[in-house]
Amino acid sequence: MNLEQVRNIGIVGSGQMGSGIAQVCATAGYSVWLQDVSTRQLEKALSGIRRSLERLASKKVVTDDQAAGAVKNIRVTEKLEDLASCQFVIEAITESPEAKLALFRDLDHACPPEVVLASNTSSIPITKLGAATRRPPLVVGMHFMNPPPLMKLVEVVPGLDTSDQTSALTRALAEKLGKTPVCCVEQPGFIVNRILLPMINEAIYALQEGLASADDIDKAMKLGTNQPMGPLALADLIGLDVCLAILEVMHREIGDPKYRPAPLLRKYVDAGHVGRKSGRGFYRYAAQG
Ligand SMILES: NC(=O)c1ccc[n+]([C@@H]2O[C@H](COP(=O)([O-])OP(=O)(O)OC[C@H]3O[C@@H](n4cnc5c(N)ncnc54)[C@H](O)[C@@H]3O)[C@@H](O)[C@H]2O)c1
Repeated sequence: MNLEQVRNIGIVGSGQMGSGIAQVCATAGYSVWLQDVSTRQLEKALSGIRRSLERLASKKVVTDDQAAGAVKNIRVTEKLEDLASCQFVIEAITESPEAKLALFRDLDHACPPEVVLASNTSSIPITKLGAATRRPPLVVGMHFMNPPPLMKLVEVVPGLDTSDQTSALTRALAEKLGKTPVCCVEQPGFIVNRILLPMINEAIYALQEGLASADDIDKAMKLGTNQPMGPLALADLIGLDVCLAILEVMHREIGDPKYRPAPLLRKYVDAGHVGRKSGRGFYRYAAQG
């Protein structure tokens, strides 16, 4: 498969990352199948994509025609089999090893054998996902940043058996989508989360120990280190469940106690306060459509 042969892109999972990736692919002119197990989530994803494109058009980041074209390029479905017409599939479902392994087995059966299966996973080994299929050379990590329409970086992560051709195609596709790819070896957290998550975790430990209020921790990190967003607000944006899942994998796989998730993080996740998407995390948010 080469870049010119890729016309239809399948996205599995229409949460905050999947819907954003679908928007990016559709804006670049690709025909997109966006699949999810939840119809309600698919509706929410479509209305979120429309809102986001309207906002980008009003800021002249995209033209009105591009925004209208992008919406038309996206079809949604609950059936995985609909992705059989795609040449490149990007998985962005919940960060659960069991769910992703089962999905890669299903995708392997649903998609023709030459199709590349990429995963947006933040921490699950690509080698394991590849081994769940009959096409390990065509399975690769393609890790977008949140929110995908705004963030320029894509980490391309080959597993043990990923072919050089698959990595090269994934890098080329990222560039075609207007992103800047970096390549890294397969280790939990890749580059960005390996460095970012310990900082977020430390901010949660600091909050738990009463070092300062959430607001002041974020204010200190924003003004003291010139970050656009404080670590607790960023954790809410990423999703506290996603942060916990990434830290758990880093803790388990790297085995260093410095990655131990803060008990307060676990408590928030147990309570269902997982950040912006649930309306409450370290901060409270107005409900979204
Ligand atoms: N949130 C972030 O900041 C971020 C950044 C980079 C990468 N990621 C990764 O992207 C992936 C998705 O994260 P998210 O934040 O979008 O999660 P999310 O919870 O917002 O969305 C997950 C979606 O997957 C759907 N889903 C679950 N099981 C499914 C299945 N078997 N088939 C089809 N759909 C299924 C759910 O219905 C939901 O809509 C995770 O692997 C995460 O690690 C997240």
